[in-house]
Amino acid sequence: MYPFKPGSYAPRNGWYVAAFCNEIGEKLLSRWILNQPVVLYRKADGTAVAVQGRCPHRHFPLGDSKRVGDAIQCGYHGITFGADGKCTFIPSQQTVPGVYSIKAYPLVERGLWAWIWPGEPDKADESLIPTMEEIGYRTDPDFHAKPFYVHHVNGRYQLLNDNLLDLTHLGYLHSGSIGTPDDAATPEVRDLNARRLSSRRHMKNTPPTPAIRERWGYDGLLDRLSGMDFYFPGFHAGIGDSTVPEGQPRAGEKLASSRVWHAVTPATKTSTTYFFAMGSPDRSGVEFMVEYLKPVLAEDIFATEAIEKIITTVDEVPPELMLRSDTTAVQGRRVLQAMMDAEAAQ
Ligand code: FES
Ligand SMILES: [Fe+2]
Repeated sequence: MYPFKPGSYAPRNGWYVAAFCNEIGEKLLSRWILNQPVVLYRKADGTAVAVQGRCPHRHFPLGDSKRVGDAIQCGYHGITFGADGKCTFIPSQQTVPGVYSIKAYPLVERGLWAWIWPGEPDKADESLIPTMEEIGYRTDPDFHAKPFYVHHVNGRYQLLNDNLLDLTHLGYLHSGSIGTPDDAATPEVRDLNARRLSSRRHMKNTPPTPAIRERWGYDGLLDRLSGMDFYFPGFHAGIGDSTVPEGQPRAGEKLASSRVWHAVTPATKTSTTYFFAMGSPDRSGVEFMVEYLKPVLAEDIFATEAIEKIITTVDEVPPELMLRSDTTAVQGRRVLQAMMDAEAAQ
């Protein structure tokens, strides 16, 4: 499906964010992941688990069912499944056939996130999860990291990946907050390896964004670094740094220095769960941004949902008119398509 080949939806063999760790508790949490219902919860010993969210009997949602100890008892006819997915009890009969089980997914908590592997379980290699070091997540007291929002977006996931891989939109879609026209006019430096696709823009002597004006009361020129690392298949680690350059009053002062983390998890064919988090040594800056970025994210969500509406309504999606600035997004799409092609070939 657009923008991939017909029949290609999403890579299955990869780690996606299923939830922020702090969302998973005793209560059953329902979430669609790669077009399948999934249930997340924490066992009595504190381990987080993810199992299939559809009862194999009559397809009742297990997320709307009942926890019995560490097991889930289907809310329809009472069939019960352990946290490993194995059926433990069928109320209407004595025997429990071995085939009567649900899928249990590999799930790993790392940093703020619980990572799920929707594909073949024996391929779930934990070393493929981005390391906290490479994404700039720290737990020391000089760093403050926080999950901000979880949004259900009515648009296919690749529209959000495309958004995050083309930050030229910052100066236009977010002209009132986090971008300036220099975000589009400055060429980017790209780097691709097997784990991630990285892009950086170094803006020298550039005007401050409205966000910097507002928070730091600074109106002079700045040196800004803006970048994004896309860890395949669904995690983007962003970096933003602003320093006052030589020759300006307040020269050398570091204004903003932050990491932003976007996790893009396909929910259904045309919807996405979008997890946003942020970290910085500047604790009050992070707290300021929780409110400040709400309307900014709403702009990205508006763009995604409006585009989804157009492309699902027109008879046929016409070919896009590509620009040089689309190179990163196109590379990102190619990597995901190659992952899907490799899975299809197996
Ligand atoms: S649908 Fe789950 S027990 Fe019947
Ligand atoms: Fe955006």
